[in-house]
Amino acid sequence: MDYRRRYVRDLLASAPGEQVEAFGWVKTRRDSKAVSFVQLSDGSCFKDLQVVIDEGVLDEETLKQLTTGACVGFVGDLVQSPGEGQTVELKATSCTVFGPADASYPMQKKGATLEFLREIAHLRVRGNTFGAVMRVRHRAAWKVHDFFQSRGFKWIHTPIITASDCEGAGAMFAVSTNLEAHGDKYVLKNNDPAADFFGKPSYLTVSGQLNVETQCMGLTNVYTFGPTFRAENSNSARHLAEFWMIEPEMAFCDIVGDMNLAEEFVREIIADCLENCADDLAFFNQRIEPELLKTLHHVVDSEFERMTYTEAVRLLENSGENFEFPTAWGSDLQSEHERWLTETKVGRPVILTDYPKEIKAFYMRQNEDGKTVRAMDVLVPRIGELIGGSQREERLDVLEARIKELGLPLEAYWWYLDLRRYGSAPHSGFGLGFERLVMYLTGMKNIRDVIPFARTPGHAEF
Ligand code: 4AD
Ligand code: MG
Repeated sequence: MDYRRRYVRDLLASAPGEQVEAFGWVKTRRDSKAVSFVQLSDGSCFKDLQVVIDEGVLDEETLKQLTTGACVGFVGDLVQSPGEGQTVELKATSCTVFGPADASYPMQKKGATLEFLREIAHLRVRGNTFGAVMRVRHRAAWKVHDFFQSRGFKWIHTPIITASDCEGAGAMFAVSTNLEAHGDKYVLKNNDPAADFFGKPSYLTVSGQLNVETQCMGLTNVYTFGPTFRAENSNSARHLAEFWMIEPEMAFCDIVGDMNLAEEFVREIIADCLENCADDLAFFNQRIEPELLKTLHHVVDSEFERMTYTEAVRLLENSGENFEFPTAWGSDLQSEHERWLTETKVGRPVILTDYPKEIKAFYMRQNEDGKTVRAMDVLVPRIGELIGGSQREERLDVLEARIKELGLPLEAYWWYLDLRRYGSAPHSGFGLGFERLVMYLTGMKNIRDVIPFARTPGHAEF
């Protein structure tokens, strides 16, 4: 056995008339008079390979083991398929059962709910929905790199453990070697943060931005794509405690250039998936979100609407809608507001800019009005906020003043401030939540269903 063999995907695209091998898991099996049909999947594409087993070809013992969930390898002849839905099928001549699966196999229930499938996240990838999600996720991740590489951006690996709070939002997981679990209690080995592993309090990163900015100030155009962590106790369908973020950072680029990149990026990834994951997206369109293909094509073909936060608040105030949360200049937009703007008002993605500085992070460039910053958020129908970014404050004095004003520890940012002290440059960047993008691409409604193993409050199983 060797990995260099044809996948089901390749077999389905092959001409009939050859003897071939096929490996995979049995999706379904059905028997008619003198013949059994097995649908075989190896996850390489949405379609299964139909294996036809004529009476008498396999011994009774083997045939008995060909049940849903079993892992098997067939040898047989690739022949023209008389049935609908495929051009070729495999006429089996022999079969090896690597791993049988008995009737307790949990993935055989037809019409299992997404909630139930979350409880068997270690097995769900063998079904249609999660196989398709993971193929789309994979393709989009590949395209992220292709997009940046083809534009000369350098790929940076930013640290996962950090001592700085990038967003200043305080939703961080502490990393410590000082804690020991004793039965049902935690015991502190040493109460002194200075005696801890890193000699000071450290955390799982909420964003790679501050680190990637350092690389930008030497390599010009860079990006990071890695896991990020937020201890937000939010049980929403759009938040994870561990999610993947893509963060480009560009020197000699202002907020307009930043918006242009964001728009190009989202459009190009969607166009690529439409072309390369057509079967998977057709499935999502049929079973998960009936408007999916229409929406995705629409986004590829249309320009994103751009408006200021101030303009958005005016529209919300005059909308006549009865929102749960009121809107007033200065307060953060809630998901219901974001969705109204992008779904009801504009009907396509919207980029909001120039937010009040009080509701945005310390590093954003201040506008001349003294009240707003050069922030930009990309909002999309069904999801709300997909991207958050900004032009960065490159002026040392203004940045220092803002850090102090917010009561953040100036010393901790010494190296970040050095970037402004030595050879500072206008620069901009953004962060895109990869799982939100996969939700957008697939129409899946819950973020727990677009990552293999979701980390949310109270859930770290698997
Ligand atoms: O808007 P955020 O907090 O921005 C930053 O972290 C910046 N440092 C990015 C940058 O400019 N380099 O997060 C960026 C995006 C959001 O728009 C959202 O898509 C996603 O990350 N995101 C989450 N995704 C899943 N679960 C969560 N808890 C998320 N929090 C943010
Ligand atoms: Mg944000």
